[in-house]
Amino acid sequence: MSRVYNFSAGPAALPLDVLQAAQKDLIDYKGCGMSVMEMSHRGKDYDVIHQEAIATFKELCGLNDDWSVCFIQGGGSMQFAMIPMNFLTKDGSADYINAGAWSSKAVKQAQMFGNVNVVANCQKDIPTRMPEKDECKWTQGALYSHICTNETISGAQLKEIPETGSPLFADMSSDILSCERDYSKFSMFYAGAQKNLGPSGMAVVAIRKELAEKGAATIPTMLQYRTYVDEDSLHNTPPTWAIYIFGETMKWVKRMGKENLFKLNDEKAQKIYNVIDASGFYRGTAKKEFRSNMNITWRLPSEELETLFVKQAAEAGMKSLKGHRSVGGIRASIYNAFPMEGVDALVDFMKEFEKKNG
Ligand SMILES: Cc1ncc(COP(=O)(O)O)c(C=O)c1O
Repeated sequence: MSRVYNFSAGPAALPLDVLQAAQKDLIDYKGCGMSVMEMSHRGKDYDVIHQEAIATFKELCGLNDDWSVCFIQGGGSMQFAMIPMNFLTKDGSADYINAGAWSSKAVKQAQMFGNVNVVANCQKDIPTRMPEKDECKWTQGALYSHICTNETISGAQLKEIPETGSPLFADMSSDILSCERDYSKFSMFYAGAQKNLGPSGMAVVAIRKELAEKGAATIPTMLQYRTYVDEDSLHNTPPTWAIYIFGETMKWVKRMGKENLFKLNDEKAQKIYNVIDASGFYRGTAKKEFRSNMNITWRLPSEELETLFVKQAAEAGMKSLKGHRSVGGIRASIYNAFPMEGVDALVDFMKEFEKKNG
């Protein structure tokens, strides 16, 4: 077996344990004589997978029965549209923080449905960052407020969740279950699954049931949250394989112990930031107090050196270190499943590369 260290921002490295369990179950799932991919989503065997996945996730996030966990196709991006479609009215307004490429996409979608107040705009700031605590001008009477907790492209992460005065919605696509968060502060939060949760193509959406019932009822059935809440994400055929892998990944998080994972995430990120800070060669992209533990972004003295860095790292078994095409530079995405050994290999490589090219 020759697995590389995969620094991809998403789809991203999954726990090897999960992949091996899936491989074992692929042809004959626990004696059912068929794969999870082949079984009816209405059958008893699948139902156990579905319910266990939801229950484990709820347990990990500390969600009570006021909450529903939904599986919605269309990834994180579909949520950018579904949220305003359900909750923003022409005569109402919603507050959005615009702190990077992803929150900016969410703002654009919301503007199609009603008034959007951008309460802080640091989308284009260099170093990349999140708003300071007192920077946001929250609107009294806003229908909801929307934040992105981790900007995957810029490498900036919100360390403290703001008090917004209206129901708080969050895109947590790239840092869900990676650090301590009080999930009860939110009215809904969601994540495209392909980073910390499982395969791409679906979003895992946690929403207060009461809120889902208040959503628009005159939009297509598949775009109403209540459809997913009322029918347990089984109104139509859900992405069963993705949900199965998600469930296995959640069991892995439970086995690892989420506090252990959070601590490891801090240590992994710190090791890379330490190399950046000790060097005059590497330059971190994000403002220090907002540095992401999931997506670590930095620059080298020239684009030529960045290209060489990515090429030589790949040759040494460290793949997908190229920064997002819109910003360039280097990005190391080190989600929950990314191993410490991969970080150690990168750190050694960075030091060596600087010695040769600095
Ligand atoms: C923070 C964030 N939000 C939303 C998305 C969009 O997710 P998807 O590609 O599943 O639509 C991404 C994708 O990388 C992301 O990083």
